[in-house]
Amino acid sequence: MYDNWEELEDSIQNCNKCKLCKNRINIVFGVGNRKADIMMIGEGPGADEDKQGIPFVGKAGQLMNKAFDGLGIDRGKIYIANIVKCRPPANRVPEEDEAEACLDYLRNQVILVKPKIIVLLGSTALKNILGKEYGITATRGNWIERKGIWYMPTWHPAALLRDETKKIEFWKDLKQVVIKYDEMKNND
Ligand code: URA
Repeated sequence: MYDNWEELEDSIQNCNKCKLCKNRINIVFGVGNRKADIMMIGEGPGADEDKQGIPFVGKAGQLMNKAFDGLGIDRGKIYIANIVKCRPPANRVPEEDEAEACLDYLRNQVILVKPKIIVLLGSTALKNILGKEYGITATRGNWIERKGIWYMPTWHPAALLRDETKKIEFWKDLKQVVIKYDEMKNND
């Protein structure tokens, strides 16, 4: 574990801990406020993210931005990262060994950011962070507290592109995040 961002970023530069390194254009490390109270964790970069080196800049990210705008969440004030930092081929779900190899980077990011709330975007984020026993359909929309951090699992924004009905639930889940965050600030 590194206690500063520079060393952590340096350590990932030539990462070849898993096979996803072979086809990557860019490592998609993370973006946003490194002192954010709210952190979002996705699955892994898609084609646009791989090209630009920034998480959630493609279609799913644009949809997520619309929800942020509607709910008054400032993307610049939160921190966004993924379970894996390199694009899985054809956007498949990261394999267990790939997630395993990459998770220490994310754990280190969480330690450095020290968020109060973590939004888990989709099943891959949920299972890798809170445990394989959790299912996204049953868990989304419900707060889970671990070691002082409040986790809100919700749909991955790409799921909303496939199924419009999930948009309302996604919105409701993010609304809960806004409400809880406001409560936390008022109690500070
Ligand atoms: N999907 C993800 O899970 N992460 C991204 O950065 C982009 C799409």
